[in-house]
Amino acid sequence: MAKKVLVIGGGGREHALAWKLAQSKHVGKLYVAPGNGGTALVAENVPIGFTDVAGLLRFAKTKDIDLTVIGQEAASDAGVVDAFKDAGLAVFGSTQKATQIESSKAFSKDLMKQQHIPTASYQTFTDPESALAYLQPTTFPTVIKASGLAEGKGVIIAEDFEQAKTAIEAMMVNKVFGDSGMTVVVEEFLRGREISIHALCDGKRSAIFPASQDHKQVDDGDKGPNTGGMGVVAPLSWVTDQHMQVINKRIVQPALDGLRTKNAAFTGCLYPGLMVDGQDVNVIEFNARFGDPEAETYMRLLDGDLYEILLSCVNGELDPTVIRWKSGVAISVAVASGGYPGKYQKGLAISGIEKAEQQKDIVVFQAGTTRATDGVVTSGGRVLYVTALGRDLDDARTKAYQAIDCIHFDSMHYRKDIGQRPEPE
Ligand code: AMP
Ligand code: GLY
Repeated sequence: MAKKVLVIGGGGREHALAWKLAQSKHVGKLYVAPGNGGTALVAENVPIGFTDVAGLLRFAKTKDIDLTVIGQEAASDAGVVDAFKDAGLAVFGSTQKATQIESSKAFSKDLMKQQHIPTASYQTFTDPESALAYLQPTTFPTVIKASGLAEGKGVIIAEDFEQAKTAIEAMMVNKVFGDSGMTVVVEEFLRGREISIHALCDGKRSAIFPASQDHKQVDDGDKGPNTGGMGVVAPLSWVTDQHMQVINKRIVQPALDGLRTKNAAFTGCLYPGLMVDGQDVNVIEFNARFGDPEAETYMRLLDGDLYEILLSCVNGELDPTVIRWKSGVAISVAVASGGYPGKYQKGLAISGIEKAEQQKDIVVFQAGTTRATDGVVTSGGRVLYVTALGRDLDDARTKAYQAIDCIHFDSMHYRKDIGQRPEPE
């Protein structure tokens, strides 16, 4: 019988997940809460916020939802998975307790210490005076992090004492990240190349995706402030099988084992951000969700039935060998609104999405968009992700950038160098 699926979230990631789920032979009816202009093309949007636990539960029960898939991490953090599980509903995502691997840097660092997972050394502080006293001239550059969720923006790499002081005061005294910055982690700076790993987990086992690379800064050449992510490529030719084995044996599996011992078995997508330096691999952070725009890239590469895969995780029956990948390289390029990641305008008319999608191997996932009476308009900072599948990186890049040329809205900007970082020697 055709299954009913609910995806929770409203970004490009959820559009990509919904797009892939819509292709499943099992899925009959698809809902996205709250969704966006793009999810409306493949699913029915339902106006329920992703932290409205009671509202989501009521909806899932009323509609007899067979599988709920969490996109937006705030939903897991708010306890949506716990509430659904308690009600006997199938849900792909991590419980509130397991989500602490992302939502609390202190929890995550303690888990890494317990499991001997390689990561930067660190100290946690709850008052600004001790944090400042800890800083020595020899510690720079050093990394200052808000302990709670700050959408990837709560991290400052301080080159000197003045920058560190400004960051600590902004977080702990001026509370620019609200309660998320009340606890601050001061951490060793890791050198190397950053990659994203996604591992679908069923509590015990995992299926690890090919490595991908995000481009977090807003401007070409990794300049400008950090964003949620300006573009992702996968797989990466320079990440070897040996790296992947280390990632599995020293990072992903110990994390899953450690979470189980804490009574926080992890079901969902575990997404470690890693720094690779030669053969060394260190964890920068763990996320308890699909990355955005990693998901957009991966959904273009995944060659299998997403509903079956996610349900097998929920049922504790994941068989990693059934997950297959298309050959070639996938890329996603974020098209953002002027001002992002700072202040930006909303309601700008977007044209050319259909034309872009008529090009070979292109899918445009929408993030900050909404339907207006006369078309689709911007409603967020990262507006669209133009994704392409190519036989190699150059081919994927060329296709994606040609497709972007079809798209227009006032003040739009995007990075021109996604996937162009030179390979390590
Ligand atoms: P996070 O929110 O922890 O992902 O951090 C945001 C970004 O800051 C990461 O993607 C890295 O680029 C950078 N970063 C965080 N921690 C470190 C570290 N210990 N060493 C170097 N770079 C880091
Ligand atoms: N792409 C970065 C993130 O999802 O956190």
